[in-house]
Amino acid sequence: MRAMFGTIAPRYDFITRAFSYGMDRGWKRVALKRAQLPGKPLVLDLASGTGDFSLLVAAQYRDARPIAVDLTEGMLRLARERGVERAACGDACHLPFPDGAFDCVFIGYGLRNFPSLAAAVREVERVTRPGGVMVSLDFFLPANRVLRRLFLSYLYIQGFFWGYVLHGRPRVYTYIPDSLRSFVSIDEFSRLLGDSGYDRVNARGFLLGGIGLHWAAKAGPNRGATADGSVSVTGRVTAETQTFQPVA
Ligand SMILES: C[S@@+](CC[C@H](N)C(=O)[O-])C[C@H]1O[C@@H](n2cnc3c(N)ncnc32)[C@H](O)[C@@H]1O
Repeated sequence: MRAMFGTIAPRYDFITRAFSYGMDRGWKRVALKRAQLPGKPLVLDLASGTGDFSLLVAAQYRDARPIAVDLTEGMLRLARERGVERAACGDACHLPFPDGAFDCVFIGYGLRNFPSLAAAVREVERVTRPGGVMVSLDFFLPANRVLRRLFLSYLYIQGFFWGYVLHGRPRVYTYIPDSLRSFVSIDEFSRLLGDSGYDRVNARGFLLGGIGLHWAAKAGPNRGATADGSVSVTGRVTAETQTFQPVA
């Protein structure tokens, strides 16, 4: 996984825009709106890649503290070059953060890559504060069988073409339809969230159900529940250890 994403990292931003015909940015803006972040939000951008969600959050909320976490150092290097201030290497299934640390966890096209979806969802729920939210944008299989076939073929041909043009290796990007074939549907993922400690689960499809946006609130008190509107846990990622240090 790390080696594959290390290979595609330098071309990743281009490929994301090309595959989505530029719609990816709009979907991520909708995702940010759905998150309805409180004041001074502490945000985890999980499977951050080059840090799109971190940058969007920082641009929209000047007092926000987004932290980008990804398995691939090459992606994080690019994220830092793009201006992401806090970035750490980490695995979605073993996050180096205390319980209830974050107001919101964004996951952009990360779910299909995690070794265990259920374990990653449990970990995300653990590090989200009660009343906080999880927002995920990802590929899913369209419910309609014909559309599903067309969508997989489209992704395969696009992947094959760009893999050949950009890397001379046609199979570099065909991991997208490959990982999708055995993945859950939009509704199944909604159910998994509902069974994993989230009590308000919502989903919206784009591209005829080929892309799904989920937003879900962790069971607990209302959002922004702290008396002064601040988050309950703050912290920083140290440059040396890249581990999260809670501070009072
Ligand atoms: C398709 S990219 C998504 C990048 C970005 N979030 C976006 O919205 O464009 C998927 C990212 O997931 C990361 N990844 C894969 N497995 C992971 C894991 N177990 N834990 C954390 N990140 C992981 C990869 O390194 C890669 O950067």
